[in-house]
Amino acid sequence: MNTADIVILDFGSQYTQLIARRLREQGVYAELLPFDSNLEIIKEKNPKGVILSGGPASVYAKDAYFCDDKIFDLNLPILGICYGMQLIAHKFGAEVVPATQKEYGKADLNLVKKSDLFKDIDKNQIVWMSHSDKVINLPNGFTNLATSQNSEFSAICDEKRQIYALQFHPEVAHTEFGDKILKNFAKHICGCESTWNMGSFAKTQIENLKTKIGNDKVLCAVSGGVDSSVVAALLAHAVPQNLVVVFVDNGLLRMDEAKNVENTFKSRLGIDIIKIDASEIFLKRLSGIIEPELKRKIIGNTFIEIFEEEAKKHKNVKFLAQGTLYSDVIESSSFGGASKTIKSHHNVGGLPENLKFELIEPLREIFKDEVRALGLELGLSKDLVFRHPFPGPGLAIRIMGEVTSERLELLRKADVILRQELKSSGWYDKTWQAFCVLLNVNSVGVMGDNRTYENAVCVRVVDASDGMTASFSRLPYDLLENVSRRIINEVHGINRVVYDISSKPPATIEWE
Ligand code: XMP
Repeated sequence: MNTADIVILDFGSQYTQLIARRLREQGVYAELLPFDSNLEIIKEKNPKGVILSGGPASVYAKDAYFCDDKIFDLNLPILGICYGMQLIAHKFGAEVVPATQKEYGKADLNLVKKSDLFKDIDKNQIVWMSHSDKVINLPNGFTNLATSQNSEFSAICDEKRQIYALQFHPEVAHTEFGDKILKNFAKHICGCESTWNMGSFAKTQIENLKTKIGNDKVLCAVSGGVDSSVVAALLAHAVPQNLVVVFVDNGLLRMDEAKNVENTFKSRLGIDIIKIDASEIFLKRLSGIIEPELKRKIIGNTFIEIFEEEAKKHKNVKFLAQGTLYSDVIESSSFGGASKTIKSHHNVGGLPENLKFELIEPLREIFKDEVRALGLELGLSKDLVFRHPFPGPGLAIRIMGEVTSERLELLRKADVILRQELKSSGWYDKTWQAFCVLLNVNSVGVMGDNRTYENAVCVRVVDASDGMTASFSRLPYDLLENVSRRIINEVHGINRVVYDISSKPPATIEWE
């Protein structure tokens, strides 16, 4: 079991992982544990401090979430954030009630007392609130540190017991001094040092994988994308003899992708992959299917079936390794009713219940940009590391309506042109993701002297830092014009190109 400088007990907020990420950016290793973790598990991490995250529940509700009360006897500094604050207030005798005025968004915070938590931070500052309950009096032994218009007790502390609590979210970028507040807690109050970096993360993960896998075998499914390649590289360092790397050609890949993946793994990583051509079965099962979630589930299940078949050919395959990221986990989860399932990412929500493997997901706690840093640390090429993300269900979720080989071919041709134009203009590396979506509408056009009635594609190019939010890329009109002209001229069957100008939220990046 590895240790962590700070343990974060997760009460279900969408932002919990951001707390860990902000601390890691300061070189402090923080790890998330479920809110109801056994005290022994928390103690084994040997933390220097504990953070209680936000969450959707109310402390006064019948089904409120509580952590083991004994964490308050561990003599460790504790920081409660939002729900975490309400839990602390409730525990130490204060009253928490539904606020008459819910507070979402920016608020002006005024510090009313000096404390280590706000060391070297301006007296007046902007913070980000998101709560519908509030603490209306001070818990026993606590003093008030800050107020806002709607919350008299926006930050409180009991310095003697080293318990701090914030009504606002320091982990959210809109909180002006959020990083500093978390740094003050970790470094000044808990005494953590900046010892964590990607190199140490890689080392710990490799050690963990060695211990976990032991003499059993692990099947690692790669897609050619950065996430699964980083997982394969970690495993190749940890258990090179016990590794079976599988690449499934599901027929839903981009042009020449299958060939490229095989070459990359062999030449750049020195890993032999087992290539399985399963395009026929995927296409057969998708025939007639138009509902997006059903497409995702069918693809997820078919992948697993194929992995299970392959595993039978090797002895002792106990584990399946996947490149699941934190953003996949949060969008596929429905913890405590807080985070609704947006899409079943095939490597998270689309898994069958009776999975015959034990899952290994070493990237589950980190975001895409952290995965890229890890990839570079492990020696992967920049080309591979900075590839745009490509979803597990592939082009199937970029074809509106039924997926057929003819429609796949149309989409592949348009997609290649978009990528060529972005690369040659230098825009590929400036954007998070770029792809075409084949729409299920035909429109009228005129080519030469003839009327056409053909397919329309939508070009989607977005800027993002982790895929959780995104905005459409402000591409130059000339570039868009080139893309459009080339697609319409070169891809027979497409006579119209549109550009998607929606942001996430409220749209998502992929169309399905
Ligand atoms: P959405 O469409 O949810 O996408 O805004 C966010 C990011 O996740 C990628 N994505 C997936 N990745 N399996 C994956 O590995 C999936 O099922 C999946 N669905 C979406 C998407 O391309 C974007 O980068």
